[in-house]
Amino acid sequence: MPLTLLANWKLNGSKSFSQAWLKDFFVNYTGIEISSIGIAPPSILIDELVQNPENLGIAIGSQNIDQFLLGARTGEISASMVKDAGGAFSIIGHSERRILFQETNGDISLKLDLASECKLTPIFCIGESNDEKQQNKTKDVLKNQIIEVLSHCSKVQGLIIAYEPVWAIGSGDTPEPKEINSIHEMIKDIVQSHFSKLDLQAVLYGGSVNIENSTSIFKEKEVDGALVGGCSLKGKDFAILANIFNKTKGL
Ligand code: PGA
Repeated sequence: MPLTLLANWKLNGSKSFSQAWLKDFFVNYTGIEISSIGIAPPSILIDELVQNPENLGIAIGSQNIDQFLLGARTGEISASMVKDAGGAFSIIGHSERRILFQETNGDISLKLDLASECKLTPIFCIGESNDEKQQNKTKDVLKNQIIEVLSHCSKVQGLIIAYEPVWAIGSGDTPEPKEINSIHEMIKDIVQSHFSKLDLQAVLYGGSVNIENSTSIFKEKEVDGALVGGCSLKGKDFAILANIFNKTKGL
């Protein structure tokens, strides 16, 4: 099964936080499937979460990787370092990286290739801004992001796309579930028609997913999972989300 439910801790966490999180998660999680669940902690905690005996199989990944494998790049971490620490995936091109750290589509192409080369599942984030949504440009923006980025990639394997409307992240607002479904369908169509050799594993939705709204989002056929920020910071809440996912998808 591909990765379906990913926790993005952003700039939160510590060793004791990780320990408590794992305890709370496993006490509350009722499913059997673990390997499709992932945590992207701050990179300094990857090793801790991979090695922790209380982690009974959750995949660990990074929130970002550098677009180079080595060099004079103070402060960066590479795909091979994430792999070496036991990481299984990397989030790439999150809108916070694009906005706060000026990441371009070109950088994102390089990162997707490097992740694949190092056998990390690439989680490629796309999404429209509020202005773009207001101007009815959502579909064009997403199509451009996909085509500009993927047409410059040559090594991508096991791709997962996360559709994350920028205006929905951390805001409490989400698109209507039906709208999410039709956008996911469009994303799958674009990848299929322009990059037919790519094995797109899943399209996840991200942006204010929480315990209250998750059933209606997960019910949509083309929603293969979720990338979750705020509601992933408590092990118990994330376990409840995972239980809802399993129930809604009949797993
Ligand atoms: P959120 O974040 O769930 O807090 O909206 C999602 C994300 O940024 O990946």
